[in-house]
Amino acid sequence: MTTGQARALEQLTDRYCLPPVLEPADAESAFSRPGPTGLEIGFGMGQALLRWAVERPDWNLFGVEVYQPGIGSLLLGLERQQLTNVRVFEAAAEDVLAKSFGASSIDEVRIFFPDPWPKKRHHKRRLIQGAFVSVLVDRLRPGGRLWLATDWEPYARWMLNVLEAQSELVSESAASGDLSQGAHQRLETRFEARGKRLGHRVWDLVYYRKRCSTASR
Ligand SMILES: C[S@@+](CC[C@H](N)C(=O)[O-])C[C@H]1O[C@@H](n2cnc3c(N)ncnc32)[C@H](O)[C@@H]1O
Repeated sequence: MTTGQARALEQLTDRYCLPPVLEPADAESAFSRPGPTGLEIGFGMGQALLRWAVERPDWNLFGVEVYQPGIGSLLLGLERQQLTNVRVFEAAAEDVLAKSFGASSIDEVRIFFPDPWPKKRHHKRRLIQGAFVSVLVDRLRPGGRLWLATDWEPYARWMLNVLEAQSELVSESAASGDLSQGAHQRLETRFEARGKRLGHRVWDLVYYRKRCSTASR
């Protein structure tokens, strides 16, 4: 951890970080204003979340991460850019989603380059699992968006299987009738850059929660 990240954790935690477990009503009132709600899970060093916060000042954004140097780095960025629309959970995403957000309370969830756990015996450690995605879909508002990215093809296929098994979700390509997934404006994160250096292709998977459970979006 750099000295800047350590200082940020020491001095800025009270300003930006929330307790690891909150009642859903308290998470909502973390911002003293209404607005669309976004969540980035596993934000790493925080580059993409900072960009989201700058581009969408009207959104109330939450970040979840367990890696302290990454949290320190995000806090530094929030301070430098004087951003007030981000709050941080230092906790496992599974707990935060289950306990701190109510049903239909989030407009968009982003998970970029989650750890791929390539070995078969480690697949159970992958974040994207049926049970986790079921909770995630429940927390999305009808019409809300789920955006995943990975540079690991076997994980992209795994994600597709998990997402396609969710009857409440519809893929962007199916929703628009355009089977080629559209280009998505995403800041290149540290792990994306690493994947590209290794010659990996990147998959962006974008799904929406259906607006009503009986009809497609
Ligand atoms: C491969 S890194 C990608 C980071 C960043 N999204 C990027 O693209 O550079 C995966 C991140 O997910 C975080 N992570 C892993 N499991 C998590 C969990 N259960 N809850 C929250 N964060 C998690 C890790 O600490 C790590 O920073």
